[in-house]
Amino acid sequence: MELQKEQLSHLEPAEKRQVLIEALSYIQDFSQKIVVIKYGGAAMVQEEFKVSFARDIVLLRSLGMLPVIVHGGGPEVTAAIKQYGLETNFIDGLRVTDLPSLKISEMVLSGTINKEIVTNINIQGGHGVGLSGKDGHLIRAKKLKHPGTDLGYVGEIEQINPELILTLLDKQYIPVISPIGMGTDGNTYNINADTVASHIGVALKAHKIIFLTDVLGIMKEDKLISEVNQKETLDLIEQGVISGGMVPKVKGMLFSLENGVGSAHIISGMDAHAVISELFTDKGTGTKIIS
Ligand SMILES: Nc1ncnc2c1ncn2[C@@H]1O[C@H](COP(=O)(O)OP(=O)(O)OP(=O)(O)O)[C@@H](O)[C@H]1O
Ligand SMILES: [Mg+2]
Repeated sequence: MELQKEQLSHLEPAEKRQVLIEALSYIQDFSQKIVVIKYGGAAMVQEEFKVSFARDIVLLRSLGMLPVIVHGGGPEVTAAIKQYGLETNFIDGLRVTDLPSLKISEMVLSGTINKEIVTNINIQGGHGVGLSGKDGHLIRAKKLKHPGTDLGYVGEIEQINPELILTLLDKQYIPVISPIGMGTDGNTYNINADTVASHIGVALKAHKIIFLTDVLGIMKEDKLISEVNQKETLDLIEQGVISGGMVPKVKGMLFSLENGVGSAHIISGMDAHAVISELFTDKGTGTKIIS
């Protein structure tokens, strides 16, 4: 933890004491509480932040919190599809997924990205376990019917079976979940990772859900919106201020809050130790959605 020590070295003793007291009270509150962290593909671009993210997660686990990671991987999936000479299109923030794109998506999400996160956690001394929604029937999905367009193998969630996650948490493991589900028809489905994170948060009755992405939070005219309620959020979608990949994120957040998750936040993953500062300081950095 040399980095954190260096970062505090400029503080006066009284300030250090204040930081410590603030953090300790949160540590007590969070003990044995489940926190779902959606790790956006867009936030995974820089190597140094991948390492600091893994370090934070291992630290949270060692403090008795129960982190569950759900990851995306949009940019890497897009790059892989292009490498195969194929095209990729989005409609309403969802990737149109034909069979070749599905196979590439599963390979990148459940393979490369999932195992890279597990590797980083394990290097930091944690015990990461990579899962896809297929493992232990974690995510049962069906084809998403989208008005006017066939999105191919894009799935919607029918059911989350959280037993496997709970078993892993009980044995001190850190679950790392890719957003791939399976249907009773035997088909594989590509599901938006924000939607997966919010449904998993609900199934686990999570204390908090945090979305790490490549922007500071919800932006309007280049300004960060620090707090927004349900009605204002829906209005922002209606006005087109919230668009693309931000739509499933905020919809997932509203779904989580309506169904028992304690709080929902969007923060920037382009900042070292973003998760720690969100959890252990009074002043949140990104957008908090309230019901
Ligand atoms: N009002 C808004 N405020 C902030 N970002 C917005 C807004 N409307 C749309 N966006 C877009 O949403 C993007 C974040 O969603 P995106 O799906 O690209 O990332 P992610 O969900 O973190 O990654 P992944 O989809 O790979 O998991 C931002 O980079 C931005 O382009
Ligand atoms: Mg996204």
